[in-house]
Amino acid sequence: MSQGKVTELISHLMTALSNCSLYSEQHPLVGEFSGNALRVAEELYSDDTLTLTLLGDSLVFNNSPVTDKGTHISSLKRRLKRKGIEKIVLKKGLGIEEFKKFIAGVASTEKVVSSPHLSVGMVEVRFNSAGTDVSALINENIAKVKGLCQGIAKFRRLDIVSLEDAVTGFITTLKKETNVLRVVSPMKSYSEYTYVHATNVSVLAIFQAEALGMKGENLHDVGLAGLLHDVGKLFVSKEVLEKVTKLDLEEWNAIKTHPVFGARYLATLSDVPKLALIAAFEHHMKFDGSGYPETKRRRNHQHIISQIVAIADFFDALRTERPYRRALESPKVVQLMKEATARDFNPLLVDNFVGALRRIKAI
Ligand SMILES: [Fe+2]
Ligand SMILES: [Fe+2]
Repeated sequence: MSQGKVTELISHLMTALSNCSLYSEQHPLVGEFSGNALRVAEELYSDDTLTLTLLGDSLVFNNSPVTDKGTHISSLKRRLKRKGIEKIVLKKGLGIEEFKKFIAGVASTEKVVSSPHLSVGMVEVRFNSAGTDVSALINENIAKVKGLCQGIAKFRRLDIVSLEDAVTGFITTLKKETNVLRVVSPMKSYSEYTYVHATNVSVLAIFQAEALGMKGENLHDVGLAGLLHDVGKLFVSKEVLEKVTKLDLEEWNAIKTHPVFGARYLATLSDVPKLALIAAFEHHMKFDGSGYPETKRRRNHQHIISQIVAIADFFDALRTERPYRRALESPKVVQLMKEATARDFNPLLVDNFVGALRRIKAI
């Protein structure tokens, strides 16, 4: 087997898939890259079949492990994990329309089904919410993120599969309980702040993204970006983070390093979506170009994902009691957010968020 050909096949497949997620199955680029993938597949069939298997964290092509590394290969592994797909078998005779249906299935939030020339082996979905009530789901979400945060702090590495699971949990919970304010959890003690805040920002970011019409993979990436936005705080000393009295300039400067540390840390991990890295870097930048970290690219260059996370971050921070300030009620937070709009936040996204809260009668 030529590793190069397998990598080429996966690159075409992933390009078709990301165009399908961004646009639709009908987009010409989906057709073009699906066609490219099928042409490469023709050269790789053995006994008229071709098998891709996900074994733990490894990808196996026919019977040989795929040793190449690269963005497309790690994205494919992530997509397969998210969908619970452990095996894909292509059979000779697979045509472009049938292949495009498969691509569309993977890009959607629906279950992927087999077709005559393409069979899909599914594992049991890890997050099973059937019959579980919402408060149990929320507690389960929090417990999961708590464990993950402790894991990251200890080993300085990220269990991306479990983080993916946690985001799936948030999306499922929001489907069951449409009032997002019942899903975001109150913090019971200051020691809980890190993971309760990470969970809440993720949930609030997903809520905004859904109101904007985002679905499937994109929604998942937004959730992950929310969950990881403050990951750089692991590199800031605990004494500074947990200080209850006023910070001096040096301590404040230490806090302000967390976006850079977070982005740098996420950049070392191959299987983290780029959106998460962008949000970690930019979530304290402001819509008018101020904020931190300061860069040469100012005004209106904050990515929409960072703008969404910034709104979620502000909302959760003000609704939470801190040693130096009482928790504010949601309508008050919305009022403050509106006052800061245009300077701090994208006005269209504030309208989207406030409108969605009103629609569910949360404010
Ligand atoms: Fe932050
Ligand atoms: Fe934050």
